[in-house]
Amino acid sequence: MKHLLKLMDLTREEILSVLNLADQLKYERQKGTFGDYLKGKKLGMIFQKSSTRTRVSFETGMYELGGYALFLSNRDLQIGRGEPVEDTARVLSRYLDGIMIRTFAQQEVEDLAKYGSIPVINGLTDYCHPCQVLADLMTIRERKGSFKGLKMCFIGDGNNMANSLMVGAIKTGMRFSIACPKGYEPDSELVAWAKKEGEFYMTEDAAEAAKDADVVLTDVWASMGQEEEKAKRELAFKGFQINETVMKAAKKDAMVQHCLPAHRGEEITAEVFEAHADEIFDEAENRLHAQKAVLCKLLK
Ligand code: CP
Ligand code: NVA
Repeated sequence: MKHLLKLMDLTREEILSVLNLADQLKYERQKGTFGDYLKGKKLGMIFQKSSTRTRVSFETGMYELGGYALFLSNRDLQIGRGEPVEDTARVLSRYLDGIMIRTFAQQEVEDLAKYGSIPVINGLTDYCHPCQVLADLMTIRERKGSFKGLKMCFIGDGNNMANSLMVGAIKTGMRFSIACPKGYEPDSELVAWAKKEGEFYMTEDAAEAAKDADVVLTDVWASMGQEEEKAKRELAFKGFQINETVMKAAKKDAMVQHCLPAHRGEEITAEVFEAHADEIFDEAENRLHAQKAVLCKLLK
């Protein structure tokens, strides 16, 4: 594992190995021990979009591992004024030990890795959100014991979260179902791959997708960068919500996960959100442990 650009690049064994290390780091932290596994290492964090969890978990994660994190916003970097990514990559490679980037185009992340000489971590693009899904997988295994025989269901936009979740689910041996409106399906190449590699089911009926699910997930109807489509999307996504009806179709002990931020009354009702708040905030906490594991794998 040289980079974390998308989950598709990781084997099942590499994913499980990250999750095992994440569990170990979480256990050590709960015991009050912080190994200086990345003593003196420096991570640059480029943000072209907003963030609460990704920024704070990477920054505190590097601190806990004995390293240092630099917050680099596109408002301050020359990249925001058009300096090419291939130059930025080569310059940052001379100063840092790793780069985390949150941006729009997946190609920018791939180019950063191609032209630089240090590990690159994708902190969200329009295409995928691998760090979030590693934390989701960690939370699911933590609560369900294993992935064996589980069904994951996603309700809503076939966006970056859906793309990464379906890859994560299939690679760890879960079945995957998605309910999304026509025109808002996940990436078609990933759909073809999922159908070939595992059990994948797509429908426009939320309750049907959720039938017998062990874990039900959703995400915002309008992602960062789609703000002007908000009204149009509110219409298109009506009915694509985690609510009581959907939860009744799922297994009795089904978990709910949401990467956050959440919009109560849109993709999830306030009632379902609060009933599953422990699981959702464990998921948010696990960003820290899962990313520390990724950092150790790549930067050590
Ligand atoms: N879930 C997630 O990535 O949150 P942030 O946008 O706050 O980083
Ligand atoms: N799909 C959302 C995820 C936020 C963490 C977005 O891209 O804005």
